[in-house]
Formats: sequence, C-alpha cells, structure tokens
Amino acid sequence: MKELLLVAGARPNFIKVAPVCHALAGHPRLGFTLVHTGQHYDDAMSRRFFEVLDIPAPGVNLEVGSGSHAVQTARIMERFEPVVAERKPAAVVVFGDVNSTAACALVACKLNTPVVHVEAGLRSFDRTMPEEINRIVTDVLSSLLLVSEPSGLRNLLNEGISRDKIVEVGNVMIDSLQRVRPRVEAQQPWTTFGLSRGGYGLVTLHRPANVDDDTVLKALLGALGRVSEKLPLIFPMHPRTRARIQQLGWNPPAGFQMVEPVSYIDSIGLQLGARVVLTDSGGLQEESSCLGTPCLTLRPNTERPVTVELGSNIILGNDPAAVESAVHEVIAGRIKRAQPIPLWDGRAAERVVAAMDAFLHP
Ligand code: UD1
Repeated sequence: MKELLLVAGARPNFIKVAPVCHALAGHPRLGFTLVHTGQHYDDAMSRRFFEVLDIPAPGVNLEVGSGSHAVQTARIMERFEPVVAERKPAAVVVFGDVNSTAACALVACKLNTPVVHVEAGLRSFDRTMPEEINRIVTDVLSSLLLVSEPSGLRNLLNEGISRDKIVEVGNVMIDSLQRVRPRVEAQQPWTTFGLSRGGYGLVTLHRPANVDDDTVLKALLGALGRVSEKLPLIFPMHPRTRARIQQLGWNPPAGFQMVEPVSYIDSIGLQLGARVVLTDSGGLQEESSCLGTPCLTLRPNTERPVTVELGSNIILGNDPAAVESAVHEVIAGRIKRAQPIPLWDGRAAERVVAAMDAFLHP
C-alpha cells in the first residue's frame, strides 16, 4: 500500500479534492491522508464544503489562516515540512493554483517526494496574477502533471516539460458538479433568494485586479448597479470583496442583492438558474460552461481557453460600458451556445487515480 498526502487549502481545492478522495476510497494499492492547510477557515468557505461534498475529515490541519502572500506561503511551508518528513508519503498531490498548492509542492520537492499536480498546465500568461505564479512554480516542480483541458498539454510542452510526465484526465471540478446536480435540480436554490429561473444574473468578484483598486471596483459596481435596474442581480460576496466594498461605503440599488458566500449547492444552483453569470472566478467559467449558462468573464484573459472555444464563456475585461452592453446582448437573446468539452464527463477523478497508480506502480 502506498500512502498519498492530498493537500487542500482554499475553497476551490475542496471541490477538486472531493472526487479524488471518493475514487481512492477502498483502493487496493493507494491510501491517502488529507491535509487541510487552513488557508480558508470560515465555515462558509470551508466546513460546509466538506459536509456537502462528503469529504473525509482532514487527518492534518495546518491552521495557517490569512496573511500576505509571503507570510501565508511561508507559514504553510514551515508547518507542512514536518508532516512530509514524518509520514514519508509516496507522493504529495496538490490541486489548482492557490498559495497552498505552490507552498506544498516546494516543500515536497525539496524532501525528494514526487509531486502530482491536478489541473496542471493552465496559463493566463498574466504574471500580475498570484495564481499564475503558483501555476508556473508548481508545474516546474511536479513529476506527474494531470491536465484538465487541451491548452494544459500545449502549454506544458511549450515549456519543455516531457510528454511522458503529462496525462490528460479531464476536469475533476465537473465530477463534483455532476454529483450534486440532482440535488440542485430538486432544491431550485434560486427560489430561496426570491429569484425566478432565467430571471436574474449571478455576480462574483474577488480577484485583486478587480477589488483591490478603488477606482476599478467603484466603476464595476456602478455598471452592475445599472444592469440590476433591468435584470436583478445576486452577488455572493467573498470575504475580501465584502471588506473592500464596506471600505468604499457603497450601497447597492434595490435590484442588487449582496449576500454572504453561498454553499456549493447554492453556487451551482444559482449558476444553473441564471440568465447570465458575471465573474472573475476560474471555477465559475468552467461550471457555467458545463451548465450552458452564458458567462461573461470580468478579466482581460483566461487560463481556461476551452471555456471560450467550446463553452459559454466570453472574455470581457472590466470596462464598465462593455459590461453593460454585453448584458444587454444576453437579455436580447444573443447568446453563445455551449458544446460538450472532452473529458469533462464526471469521471476525471477515476483517471487521476489510474494515472497515479500507474506512476507509483510502473
Ligand atoms: C484564494 C486563491 C484564489 C481563489 C480563491 C477562492 C491564492 C493566491 N488565491 O484567494 O486563487 O480563487 O482563494 O476563494 O491562493 N478570508 C476570510 N475567511 C476565509 C478565508 C479568507 O475572511 O476563510 C479573507 C481574509 O481577510 C483574507 C482574504 O479573505 O485575508 C483573502 O484570503 P486568501 O486565502 O489570502 O486569498 P483569496 O482571495 O481567498
């Protein structure tokens, strides 16, 4: 039996690690311990995701909490090193592009422990994004790179990573989506918020480029406020966004509901029921593409180009006039139809486990 350490730290990690835990349960050759770094710690950002996605309780919690990038990354490294040194896992498995991903990859690699990166190869080619730095660092240190979409393979080959380290497994986030979809259809979460199916837009914003600059944030909120006079909007706010909006002292108009971070079921449900999704999240670009809901990405680029090529995603940037006119296009019925994306079929975690098994038992 070979032991894996699976690392999860922040909200999107929990959604990705869940199906891998399920696919590993009862495996004859691979065991695992889940390590929660504690990067996200609020109930709404962490505990509720464990419950709804049926993720086993973490065997280790590093409880690092928030801090600047350097402080948070350093704290994760300091606390993860003795865990790897003591448990001597066959591999450390990291997910996505958050600070916990890069920090734990660096620790494992220096202890000569192979790193497996789930969701390798994504690139926005925008090094002002902290996530882009995390992706580059993690991929360069990984021994097995599991990619979710065709661009991942292209980017890694362009960076000189050897083909035999890369496996196309598909998107584990979609495994989680498919698991909860029947519950979502039954619950119709939009009704809880007083909304009707197809009668509202869903907004999420948390990227530093959109929320950390007063002028940018004010202009975006102004545009969204005007949109909400024609199409009601619901905006579950990430803690960092809530804090920034409070600092601005901005009050939303009547059609603009600003709420606490929502549960996973509500997030998928609000995307399913929406006329349009306006977001700067990577995960929502993928989920809304899979659900076929038009997605307007409020960033100048995406590291997930397949959502534009085949999905419902349009890269809009954060110009307020562009936001308003794009929503009007959607309201007028001019929308982009989504097609199925290869390997986003609900079985990616099985392929992740098969690839790890082959890597560790050659
Ligand atoms: C992180 C990821 C981002 C991901 C996002 C999803 C990095 C670099 N960024 O960004 O890629 O899309 O998670 O949510 O890793 N906070 C709380 N409670 C929590 C967690 C955070 O109040 O449970 C607040 C703190 O004030 C903290 C701030 O949110 O300072 C930012 O949290 P942090 O984990 O540093 O980055 P995110 O913006 O959440």
